[in-house]
Amino acid sequence: MKTLVRTARAFTNIALIKYWGKKNQILKLPCTNSLSLTLDRFYTDTKVTIVNDHHDTVYLNHKLLDQTQNKRILKYLDTVRQFYSFDDHFIVDTVNHVPTSAGFASSASGFAALAAAINETKQLNLNKRELSILARNGSGSASRSIYGGFVEWIAGDSNETSFAAPIDENPQIDLTLLSVVINKGSKKISSTVGMENSVKTSPFYPNWVTLVASEIKEIKQAIAKKDIQRIGEIAEHNAMSMHALTLSANPSFTYFEPETIRIFQIIQELRQKGILAYATIDAGPNVKIICTNESITKVQKYIEEQLSNVSCVVANIGSGIQYI
Ligand code: DP6
Repeated sequence: MKTLVRTARAFTNIALIKYWGKKNQILKLPCTNSLSLTLDRFYTDTKVTIVNDHHDTVYLNHKLLDQTQNKRILKYLDTVRQFYSFDDHFIVDTVNHVPTSAGFASSASGFAALAAAINETKQLNLNKRELSILARNGSGSASRSIYGGFVEWIAGDSNETSFAAPIDENPQIDLTLLSVVINKGSKKISSTVGMENSVKTSPFYPNWVTLVASEIKEIKQAIAKKDIQRIGEIAEHNAMSMHALTLSANPSFTYFEPETIRIFQIIQELRQKGILAYATIDAGPNVKIICTNESITKVQKYIEEQLSNVSCVVANIGSGIQYI
C-alpha cells in the first residue's frame, strides 16, 4: 500500500537573543547560543516527492526555480543524501505563507519545513532533536523553528551537539509582536555574509560572545517570570548590540535605513508615555516590536500616524512543526 505523503508546515521565528556568527561555516555551528520566539502568522508549507530521475526540481509558490534560484536548496539536498546515504532525487513543492509585506526572511521556516518534509517522505523517523540538526544544516535559524514558543539553540561543537531545545512551547504570556515593514526589497548583504564579516573584522566580536552568554541567562529568568518588560529590555539591547557589530566591522556596513532609526525613536517616545514597546531588528531594515495585547493597538496607531510609508502586521506565539 502506498502511504500518502503529508505536507510539512513550519512557522518562522524571531530571535530575541540573536545568532550572529559561525565557528564552522560548513556545518553552520554558531559561536553562541541563541533564543527565539516562534510566530503564528508566517509559515512555509513543503511537500517532497521522490522522482525516478537524477536531478531535483524545486517549485516556490508554484513557480519553477531556475539554476541560480535553487542553488542553495540543491546543495542542501546533496548534504541530506550524504547524511542518510540514499540516492533519491526529489520534486520539492514549497509555498511561503509569509505575507510579502511582513518583512520576514523565509529561510528559517523554509529549511525547517524542507527538513521535516524529507523526514516524512523518506520515513527517516527523526526525533525533534535530529530534525533540528537537519534543519540547521540548511539555515542556522531554521533549527529553532522545529519547536513552538520560546526556543533555545544550543551552539554545541559538532553536528550532533548543535540543536535547538524548547524552553516553553506553549507559554501563557501576554506577548504580541508588531512587524513594521519599511523596505520590501531583498537585502544587499545576506545574513550569512554579514555575520561572517562581523566575526572576522569587528573588534567587538569577543565582547558579543560574552554578552550573549549573560543575556541568555537573564532572558530565561524573565521568561520564567513572564516579565515582558524585562524580556523586551534584554531583546532590544541584544539586537542593538548585534547591529553594533555591523557598524564596527571593517569595512563597516548597516542594515538600518532612516525609517529604522525613526521607528526606534518612536518606540522610545512611546515608552516615555508609559506604553510597553521594545524593538528587535534582524538583518534588514524592518523593525519588530515586542508589545502586550494592551499596548499593541496604541503602538500601531502611533506608528501609522507618524510614518505614512510603512505597513504593520500583528503576530502571536506560534507552534512547532506540523504535518498536514
Ligand atoms: C539576524 O539563519 O539566515 O536573523 O545560518 O547563514 O542561513 P544562515 O543564517 P540565518 O541568520 C539569521 C540571523 C538573524 C538572527 C537570528 O535569527 O538568530
